[in-house]
Amino acid sequence: MVDATAGLGRDAFVLASLGAPVLMIERVAAIAALLQDGLTRAAVAEETAAIAARMCLRHGDAAEQLVALVAEAEFAPQVIHLDPMFPHREKSALVKKEMRVFRELAGDDDDAPGLLEAALEVATHRVVVKRPRRAPPIAGPAPQHTLEGKTSRYDLYVHRSLSR
Ligand SMILES: C[S@@+](CC[C@H](N)C(=O)[O-])C[C@H]1O[C@@H](n2cnc3c(N)ncnc32)[C@H](O)[C@@H]1O
Repeated sequence: MVDATAGLGRDAFVLASLGAPVLMIERVAAIAALLQDGLTRAAVAEETAAIAARMCLRHGDAAEQLVALVAEAEFAPQVIHLDPMFPHREKSALVKKEMRVFRELAGDDDDAPGLLEAALEVATHRVVVKRPRRAPPIAGPAPQHTLEGKTSRYDLYVHRSLSR
């Protein structure tokens, strides 16, 4: 699968730990460098090496380069996962420093509708978008299904069902 908004790779790591090969795409150079560093270290640690071996990172803007990056990786992604930044309203003093720095680097991802459009064109089976629970869906086609958790919601855009 493809995680087209890789960030620091937390979601991608969970997906890879479940056995999926994951192509990660991150457009902010500093974030991609941090993620590559983590990946390199995970590759040599005994407990994470097998998981890291399923993860591959490309630096680039997925809204513009998704087709090329997927072609280069030589696989047809059934599922594309998106988790764009969503502007938060809480006062910055209350937000952890780590998160504040990350938000400054990443920005607000206001162009998420274009990314969703690109993902819908490339995914063979489905696009899954992670959103804060009360946030509206990304502007564009409505999701066919939603799954709600305590703080997050998953909006599912289904082309066809996944084979077991
Ligand atoms: C909320 S964070 C993702 C966190 C990630 N899911 C995790 O578990 O660590 C969103 C990230 O997506 C990246 N991003 C947003 N739009 C992108 C695009 N079009 N192409 C590549 N990366 C993008 C941002 O730079 C940011 O690092």
